[in-house]
Amino acid sequence: MKLHGPMNVLAVVQSEEIKDSLNNVHFENNSVNFDVFVGKVGDVGPDVIDGHGPDVLLLDINLSDDSEVEALDGIIRTYGKSLSVVATSRDATLEGVRRLMRLGVADFLPQPISDSELTTALEYASRKIGHGEGAEQARANVFSYIKPVGGMGATMLAVQSAYCLAAMGTKEPQVCLLDLDLQFGNAAVYQDLQCKFSIMDVVLSPGDLDGAFLRGVMAHHNSGIDVLTAPLTIEPLDALTPDLVARLLDVAAEEYDYVLIDMPQALTDWTQVVLDRSDVVFLVTQLTVAAIRQSRRLLEIMREKGIDEAHTAIVVNRFESRWSREVTVKEAEKALGRQIDYFVPNDYKTVNAALNEGVRLSEIKRGSKVEKRIDALFKSVLKGLGDKALVATSA
Ligand SMILES: Nc1ncnc2c1ncn2[C@@H]1O[C@H](COP(=O)(O)OP(=O)(O)OP(=O)(O)O)[C@@H](O)[C@H]1O
Ligand SMILES: [Mg+2]
Repeated sequence: MKLHGPMNVLAVVQSEEIKDSLNNVHFENNSVNFDVFVGKVGDVGPDVIDGHGPDVLLLDINLSDDSEVEALDGIIRTYGKSLSVVATSRDATLEGVRRLMRLGVADFLPQPISDSELTTALEYASRKIGHGEGAEQARANVFSYIKPVGGMGATMLAVQSAYCLAAMGTKEPQVCLLDLDLQFGNAAVYQDLQCKFSIMDVVLSPGDLDGAFLRGVMAHHNSGIDVLTAPLTIEPLDALTPDLVARLLDVAAEEYDYVLIDMPQALTDWTQVVLDRSDVVFLVTQLTVAAIRQSRRLLEIMREKGIDEAHTAIVVNRFESRWSREVTVKEAEKALGRQIDYFVPNDYKTVNAALNEGVRLSEIKRGSKVEKRIDALFKSVLKGLGDKALVATSA
């Protein structure tokens, strides 16, 4: 197997069996110096790290043991600027993996560890060295919204999710929405915002992009959320570049607690940057044959591009439990090859009125089911990400 080495990797695993399997991996061209020890995450102190000087640490973690998770957090806080951490675990749940990612782990490897997954993870982790993971990296949550075909409700969900997050808890979290759907973005329309600036101002002055500049080009919605709007003109998707988008996300994550991103339908090199950086990628779809077929295709493409599926949540929007549906939940899950994570009910009258007036759903109809579902969705997502304080105060 090929890697852009040479790279020093230190692996600390929980059993001789895993140690043996890792020792059997063959890396082409001696591209990796791979040292494997049996031990616990808590054993990986400064003496071990400073003595070895790894570029990448591969740590086998017991997710049900909070002291191990804390030890991992400490390692990333102390060494996150000079190395990357790849975690692996025998008992990984989706929520556990999200928790690890939130701590700043570069990648996660399920067990048993396959050679190809190991190579991909090490390659990915090596690209992340020095990207400021850990101590000084802002810990904002990034959520992105993608759709397999148009009209699924991705923008509705992004906009209403932003309102919901801004109203959560007593801490008044800072929320921003970046409309990166360069060609057809209409978040501003759904929020009834008049805006002087747009993402094109960032594109035209990339060198100026810092916190103050970003706040300056944001439109302000009276729910408290800030919105970087899409341009009124149709711009080519490659007006944005991976570097500029990475910088935009870094700056937004420093300025805000939650960064939500409405994405274009097409996948390009810079959209991958967003998906990789997202704590959760919400794939918004509906229970129709065409939408499920395209969702499956989109998931396949994402897998081919190495986008970690543990971050992807499938949301079925406009869900009608009583209708004789084109596709049942079971059939859809079978076709998708995975479970559907969330369901948002169909309520055209309320949703449309809220989007027309640019307001939160509850301002149109108190206790609307759509809003309740979005609230519940975020409570579950934030809990998975370890944002327990916020969830507790919002109950
Ligand atoms: N839960 C819902 N119940 C009823 N109508 C909905 C619901 N969600 C969205 N809609 C309606 O569906 C339409 C499309 O929604 P939206 O613009 O959010 O989709 P999109 O996936 O962003 O599409 P685009 O491809 O244009 O970006 C809107 O008219 C909206 O009012
Ligand atoms: Mg949209």
